Amino acid sequence: MPVIAVIGAQWGDEGKGKVVDLLAEKAGVVARFSGGDNAGHTVINPYGEFRLHLIPSGIFYPYTVAIIGNGVVINPAVLLDEIAQLNQCGVNTTRLFISDRAHLIMPYHILLDRLEEESRAGKAIGTTGKGIGPAFADKAARLGIRIGDLLDKETFLERLRFILDYKNTILTKIYGASPLSLDEVYAQYCQYGERLAARIRETDIMLEEALNRDELVILEGAQGTLLDPDFGTYPYTTSSSPLASSGCLGAGISPTRISRILGVFKAYCTRVGSGPLPTELKDETGDLIRERGHEYGTTTGRPRRCGWFDTVVARLSTRINGFTGAAITRLDVLNALPRLKICVGYRLNGKSVDYFPSNITTLEKCQPIYEELEGWQAPISDIRQYEQLPAQARQYIARLEELISCPVNIISVGARREQTIIKTPVI
Ligand code: IMP
Repeated sequence: MPVIAVIGAQWGDEGKGKVVDLLAEKAGVVARFSGGDNAGHTVINPYGEFRLHLIPSGIFYPYTVAIIGNGVVINPAVLLDEIAQLNQCGVNTTRLFISDRAHLIMPYHILLDRLEEESRAGKAIGTTGKGIGPAFADKAARLGIRIGDLLDKETFLERLRFILDYKNTILTKIYGASPLSLDEVYAQYCQYGERLAARIRETDIMLEEALNRDELVILEGAQGTLLDPDFGTYPYTTSSSPLASSGCLGAGISPTRISRILGVFKAYCTRVGSGPLPTELKDETGDLIRERGHEYGTTTGRPRRCGWFDTVVARLSTRINGFTGAAITRLDVLNALPRLKICVGYRLNGKSVDYFPSNITTLEKCQPIYEELEGWQAPISDIRQYEQLPAQARQYIARLEELISCPVNIISVGARREQTIIKTPVI
């Protein structure tokens, strides 16, 4: 059985949750490998409508094991809330496990996320405010606390005392904020540890065992390729890598195990937060896409910036991730538009370029070069066979396939699980 990585190919919010929910039916394990509760995966299935931030979308199937991998940063309060909400709706969460190596989001991370953003003033990144950046920074600086540390209260206290002392100095001396109480943070996190203890495992070993049993494993990405700190629009990025290669590191499996990499693209582009979006539509077409697509952040509720599909971005994403196939989501959102544009290159200083510049100052000077296609102006959400899509919709998909050199496996024509067209099977 293959390992399939499901990766966001643009700026996040591509609809990975729905795609994973769909594929997870046959999976033994679904593992999240990066990000934290900055992610928001909307899943609509027979149990109801859910907005998952940390728990992998595979949780809804009775035999699928859901893993939060070592590459994820965990806010335990959010995780416990999410577990409770799922349980209330009748979803069995006993097969949810967390890597003992996953780092914790601590109260000072959330405070510092806000304070650092405020101090950036006009240059704010527009983070989700969940403490993600400060938590990953501490991981790299070897000042992190891992969820497994909560299982040994004495060692945890010693480490927390040392780190909190340092963080309180920053909070009070640099930002003029109030210090956090060691006793309160310790008591709160010990309680989280007790409630989560049964789920904390060496999940990399669980994955190895699942692979040895020849089970299908899905690596569930969070955020999108253009938010990657190396290949995205740095510094307007997130703090962990959403790339396929990060799937190995963040779940603890060898790169040789991954056999399929599915890139999830929206049929257009969106971005939430600051930073370049070359095909952004600051007009009524952009507003129409936002309203028809309900393009408001799952985690923060912020309106998403909308733009045309950008194949310069898509080619970068396909190359760097090595997509073996693509899922195109929200095709139905384009139903009302008489003409559609696809960005096929950029004009930079009077010349056309077909690559995505690494430098945002250069990127901001890039003007999209568009190709226009006819819209289909018909409802498509009830269509389940590719051949039944209007000719213009098939032309749109075929042109995207051609421009990004990647076959389309899945087309999503609505939010519900069944509103899906399998053009060619993923496995
Ligand atoms: P952070 O990850 O909260 O630090 O935010 C950094 C940037 O990534 C901001 O522009 C966020 O809006 C963006 N971001 C983080 N997570 C997501 C996501 O799941 N979808 C879309 N944008 C995201």
